[in-house]
Amino acid sequence: MQDLIQQVADILTDAQRLVVLTGAGISKESGIPTFREAQQGLWARHDPQRLATLQGFLANPKLVWDWYQFRLGLVEQAQPNPGHTAIAELERRLPHVAVITQNVDGLHARAGSRQVLELHGNIHRFKCLRNHSNLSMADLAGQEATPPLCPHPGCQALVRPDVVWFGENLSYSVLNRAVAASEACDVMLIVGTSGVVQPAASLPYNARRARIIEINPEESELTDLAQVYLAGPAGEMLPQVLAAMR
Ligand code: OAD
Repeated sequence: MQDLIQQVADILTDAQRLVVLTGAGISKESGIPTFREAQQGLWARHDPQRLATLQGFLANPKLVWDWYQFRLGLVEQAQPNPGHTAIAELERRLPHVAVITQNVDGLHARAGSRQVLELHGNIHRFKCLRNHSNLSMADLAGQEATPPLCPHPGCQALVRPDVVWFGENLSYSVLNRAVAASEACDVMLIVGTSGVVQPAASLPYNARRARIIEINPEESELTDLAQVYLAGPAGEMLPQVLAAMR
């Protein structure tokens, strides 16, 4: 394993344009369950693939709103872990680093990463169901209703989380920037994703010029693309990689 860690360290040391593609696994060591893990506690009986949909929200707005508020609570109690911190450190050490994350927890930014593309939105942001105008928790202050209603005069539509639900399109501009960054990078570091959800899972295929590294305790749909695969948790592997960098 030490030899593989040194290989990864050497590749990252020479990276001119690094893209770090992350999934729920990078936040696992912050105490946030991964997406395909069994739901925790009271949510165990609900299927996230049903809750995280527009249809699910329209069928039961309060249930879906409460589920996201529960997840928001987990996120707000969580701290960035050494994996997030190591990725932020890479941005300080290397000439050009972009983080492309599928996560909605905002932990990369809290760890200090500045160039972060959030493919699936952010659980701290909300938007009007009708006009998609962005709303913060402060915009919704004082409302008891769950979900709250859009505060814009004359609107009163339901407010929803500003996250991408199954079957919804990603933000065109965010996806465009993610594809461009993937096509331009010479190294792609893939951390903590099962590689099953599109279009995120296609980005490594866009990285035609890149040497690809994966860090994940288990093999994923993307492991075959990796020049080096480090089998272990990100919070343990990444600090060792940075310690081995020149
Ligand atoms: P998954 O739950 O599908 O996969 C999590 C990955 O993290 C798995 O491959 C685990 O082996 C790995 N993992 C677990 N612990 C880890 C650790 N400590 N360090 C590194 N890796 C670890 O989550 P995602 O691949 O992120 O989309 O799922 C992608 C998307 O599926 C989510 O963004 C969500 C869901 O549909 C939307 O909500 C639109």
